[in-house]
Amino acid sequence: MQKVIISPSLLSADFANLGKDVDMLNNSEADWLHFDVMDGVFVPNISFGFPIMKAVKKISGKPIDAHFMIIHPENYVGLAAEAGAAIMTIHQEVAPHLNRIVQDIHSKGMKAGVALNPSTPIITLEDIICDLDLVLLMSVNPGFGGQKFIENIIPKAIRLKQMIKESGSKALIEVDGGVNNITAPKLVKAGVDVLVSGSYIFKAENPELVIKELKSIG
Ligand code: DX5
Ligand code: ZN
Repeated sequence: MQKVIISPSLLSADFANLGKDVDMLNNSEADWLHFDVMDGVFVPNISFGFPIMKAVKKISGKPIDAHFMIIHPENYVGLAAEAGAAIMTIHQEVAPHLNRIVQDIHSKGMKAGVALNPSTPIITLEDIICDLDLVLLMSVNPGFGGQKFIENIIPKAIRLKQMIKESGSKALIEVDGGVNNITAPKLVKAGVDVLVSGSYIFKAENPELVIKELKSIG
């Protein structure tokens, strides 16, 4: 079995010392760097955007796993590619023309991901699953770090794994929100391929060790 991919969420980093935290990630066993873009419209919070992504890209040795919690993500595909995103994940809830935007993401040389809010059913992806590189299941309502994990994401991930298998899709399953030492083993057991974790990693006394421990699950 492939080892689980760890994608620490920069949302919980120390923004006054961002370089230091990116350095810590460079030295850690983290595989990707999760970058949460919020617009204050789709979600009730605003985070950071392209200038910060560009700056982080310059000093990061890890692929940028960009999670866009914004309306009209179709307007930002070019900017995301230019800023250095390796994966562009957008929300199903804001994209009626998913097929078009996924094609556009691929044509700009990025991997394409689609995120589902906790209450959005996986069946909404049935007719696009074979074109996706990644499906992100939100295990909290998007907008903030440090929220409580929603347990019914575990059976949802199991059903999604089955859908992916039956369709012949190569999509990875990523889970985002409330991932820690208690929830991570359950997720890996359910077949989740990528774990995003923010506050659990950055609030730890030794974040590098926490990343190593998450990486060793499964
Ligand atoms: C929430 C973001 C997450 C967030 C996760 O809307 O998409 O990536 O950083 O934070 P934790 O791991 O603290 O739940
Ligand atoms: Zn995220």
